[in-house]
This record gives sequence, structure tokens and C-alpha cells, in this order.
Amino acid sequence: MTMTINGAPVAPPTDPRVSLLDLLRERLQLTGTKKGCNQGACGACTVLLDGERVLSCLTLAVQADGRSVTTIEGLVVEGAMHPLQEAFIEHDGFQCGYCTPGQICSAVGMVEEWRRGSPSHVTPDLAQGGIALDRDELRERMSGNLCRCGAHNGIVDAILATYAKEPAA
Ligand code: FES
Ligand code: FES
Repeated sequence: MTMTINGAPVAPPTDPRVSLLDLLRERLQLTGTKKGCNQGACGACTVLLDGERVLSCLTLAVQADGRSVTTIEGLVVEGAMHPLQEAFIEHDGFQCGYCTPGQICSAVGMVEEWRRGSPSHVTPDLAQGGIALDRDELRERMSGNLCRCGAHNGIVDAILATYAKEPAA
């Protein structure tokens, strides 16, 4: 079995205790994914596993066997930044940048959840249908990603500028 990381086949580690985060950073030198708390509390290590956002510090690398992993490096296509990366620059969505790869990967996964119509804790009325991606929805859905620099307003602005023009899911 192999896993796919940013489109390239990778053999899983022989040691089943290796986390996906350590596989990415220590063995594959994909250091865009950050290690913050290493215990599931900060979101800095967020990557996409088959398109779903996961905390790579809490995911064993062997759990990605046969599956597709996308890291922040994989969001760049033929040298062109992902629109959300450009929006983070445009809207001052970072200061030190440590949380930024996790924020961006999390937002890409979050938007897919919203497009599928998945409600959040603050979705006001499930019977109404159509969930607007407003600031409250976005803050709740991104609450697992912490920014120690306090760039949250810029982060929200960047995500809204990229996605909020889409019709309600
Ligand atoms: S490093 Fe994974 S959640 Fe903090
Ligand atoms: S930009 Fe520094 S932790 Fe978020």
C-alpha cells in the first residue's frame, strides 16, 4: 500500500507509531505543516485527508495508507498560489505566519463542509435551509485554529473575501 501526498506516492512508515505530522515534517521535509501543541489543541498541524481537514498530530501516518493527503505545499498549482493564500496576504491574515498553513488548509476543508450543507453549532435554523457563510458561522467553524498573534480579524476577512460571494449552501 502507498499513500499519496500532494499527488506523489509515498510509502507509509514501517513504525506504526509515527504521526502523520512527523512523517510530513521530519521524514519528507514538508515543513509547511506546523507543530504547535502536538496534542490537538491549536490546529497548526491541519492538513487535508481525502479532502477532509484533520489534525495531523493526532493522526497516525499509517491511517493515511491508501488515501490522499494535501498539505499547504499541495495547494500551490504550477507555481500559482491558491486564491485563499493570496487573500491572506491581501487582508493581513497573518503576523508571524506560524498558524497560517493550518488556517488555510482548515478553511479549504471547512468550505467543503459548508458547501455540503453541514450545520455548525451556531447555525440558527436547520429547517430554513441555506446556510449563509457569515462572520459568526465562519468564526465557529474555524474555532479549532488558534492564532497567537491575534490575526483572527484578517483571517476572517480573507476567508470571507474568497468564499462569501458563493450562494448560501
Ligand atoms: S499541533 Fe496539532 S493541534 Fe496543535
Ligand atoms: S500569525 Fe502568528 S500565530 Fe497566527
